[in-house]
Amino acid sequence: MSHVVKLPTVDDTHEFGRRLAKLLRAGDLLLLTGPLGAGKTALTRGVGAGLGVLGDVTSPTFVIARVHRPDPARGGTVALVHADAYRLGDAADPRAEIDDLDLDASVDESVTVVEWGEGLVEQLVDAHLRVRVDRRDDDTRVVELEPVGGDWAQRLAALG
Ligand SMILES: Nc1ncnc2c1ncn2[C@@H]1O[C@H](COP(=O)(O)OP(=O)(O)OP(=O)(O)O)[C@@H](O)[C@H]1O
Ligand SMILES: [Mg+2]
Repeated sequence: MSHVVKLPTVDDTHEFGRRLAKLLRAGDLLLLTGPLGAGKTALTRGVGAGLGVLGDVTSPTFVIARVHRPDPARGGTVALVHADAYRLGDAADPRAEIDDLDLDASVDESVTVVEWGEGLVEQLVDAHLRVRVDRRDDDTRVVELEPVGGDWAQRLAALG
């Protein structure tokens, strides 16, 4: 069962990311899909804020992935690994590929968010949360969360 949320403004998207972050823990994988400019990075920025990580979460277009370390002063305990699938290969398991990057952060100890773009999510990966961001004609956004395996369904229930 998927969870659908309307996000009228970028601030709403940011705030939703913060709420979502409260459900997250080390080892989690979020696959963000949706067209260019939908708001995947904006949502990731909110997740980063909710996790209490360091550094601006920006589009990782010119790097494959970026690690944001937790900021203990803001309650941060796990790192955020933010990757852009346009730069990842057509790997069956993005986690394995991200680990191969030698980022100095393992996906088991981090929350990993992959901006996956369109049409690349067919591969089977481990338990993950699929997050689809779409832009409506009135410029609002709609986010659809789809639990895939693990205990994601139960965790989403906590979003209310
Ligand atoms: N409700 C909203 N939620 C998110 N972004 C919004 C919203 N309303 C307007 N915006 C704007 O839309 C843009 C979203 O850009 P963002 O970089 O987050 O998209 P993206 O999905 O990551 O794109 P890309 O595929 O290029 O990585 C930003 O300029 C943001 O300010
Ligand atoms: Mg982006």
